[in-house]
Amino acid sequence: MLRAAAAGASRHWRLAAAATPGRPSAGLTRSLSAAATTDPTASLRKEVQTAPTAGGTGIGDGSSAALADGKHFTVTLFPGDGIGPEISAAVQTIFAAANVPVSWETHEISVANVKPGDPLVSREALDSVLRNGFGLKGPMATPVGKGHKSLNLTLRKELALYANVRPCVSFPGVKTPYENVDLVTVRENTEGEYSGLEHVVVPGVVESLKVITRTASQRVAEYAFKYAADNNRSRVTAVHKASVMKQSDGLFIEVCREVSELFPNVEYEEMLIDTCASALVMDPSRLDVMVMPNLYGDIISDLCAGLIGGLGLTPSGNMGAACMLAEAVHGTAPDIAGMNKANPTALLMSSLMMLRHMKLAAKADDIERAVHAVLKEGKYRTGDLGGSASTTEYTEAIIDKMSTGK
Ligand code: NAI
Repeated sequence: MLRAAAAGASRHWRLAAAATPGRPSAGLTRSLSAAATTDPTASLRKEVQTAPTAGGTGIGDGSSAALADGKHFTVTLFPGDGIGPEISAAVQTIFAAANVPVSWETHEISVANVKPGDPLVSREALDSVLRNGFGLKGPMATPVGKGHKSLNLTLRKELALYANVRPCVSFPGVKTPYENVDLVTVRENTEGEYSGLEHVVVPGVVESLKVITRTASQRVAEYAFKYAADNNRSRVTAVHKASVMKQSDGLFIEVCREVSELFPNVEYEEMLIDTCASALVMDPSRLDVMVMPNLYGDIISDLCAGLIGGLGLTPSGNMGAACMLAEAVHGTAPDIAGMNKANPTALLMSSLMMLRHMKLAAKADDIERAVHAVLKEGKYRTGDLGGSASTTEYTEAIIDKMSTGK
């Protein structure tokens, strides 16, 4: 593990690193500093909004018109496959009950609906998210090892959703071996091991290309540091395996070091992916905000979700320069699809991240309080949390708590 958090020698090393060619320009430095001002609502929430671009104008640019226009938003909804439609309906019901000023533009996208020769995601669906600035996505089925490219990957690439953010914070009353977990993973979302560049060299030998670029590493690192600065978090850890992948992961951490120079109030350290996995299981409080390439982020973010009770609870937001796509990170749960047994919490919590980006933090807080109250009380819990409540009963319990304010 290479640490750069402490003062003294490591600080000196960090400054030396910043003097290397490729250091962000003065213009970038200025815009990052300007963007690093604390959001007035930041103290309210741990996972409040962080503008996705260095200039701080990205997500919700489309929304500024909506804000001026009586704070009404249109959100593109992709209900998805399996349990997706059930949990999407639960979120819509709760939003309606809470009078959230959102209307929905629904697009059914599914591998099952794609005709040969058609694009996986229609231009109309992509344009809808870009126009609205916000999207909410249920899980989508991906055939394993064959067939179509993942719809999720397609959306991330087409919408340039360069960072996936998952705040993993313990829920009151949800017992796991860990208490007071409070972690955030920031995953590079567009390249790395998921570039989709694989080919057979000769029969029996397959080559898969991992692509790391300065541009993508820089924007995700900037996002992670700005998130930390805006949300009063003390440390960013760059997770890597540069001991083996010296050039690709080497470039990733080189860029993270450079970006860390622009955020002197946020501690910076580097940690090998294997060390990080062990540290998270031994003592999650050891970590704070983590930033990492795509595959590592996929694995570590699920590990963190496990620490707080599983994927059925964990929110996630995909951040792009032009839009935000909030999504549940669990799959389509085909074993319980259509049975009114799904837990809608993950999609709901993701939608609350979205509300906070819309500067509707008060609405998000009201709904989140109700979720916490229901989970803490323990009377209505879905099967994945050891209960027997249906999706509908759980949804109604949340609405009931909102209306009683308890
Ligand atoms: P899965 O997450 O769908 O299911 C794993 C287990 O967790 C199942 O027992 C399921 O019932 C349960 N579960 C998941 N979400 C739940 C919820 N909200 N409430 C209650 N129980 C829940 O993972 P699996 O089976 O590996 O994948 C099924 C399909 O989902 C595959 O086609 C896969 O490609 C797709 N998938 C899509 C993702 C996405 O769209 N982001 C992410 C992961 C998988």
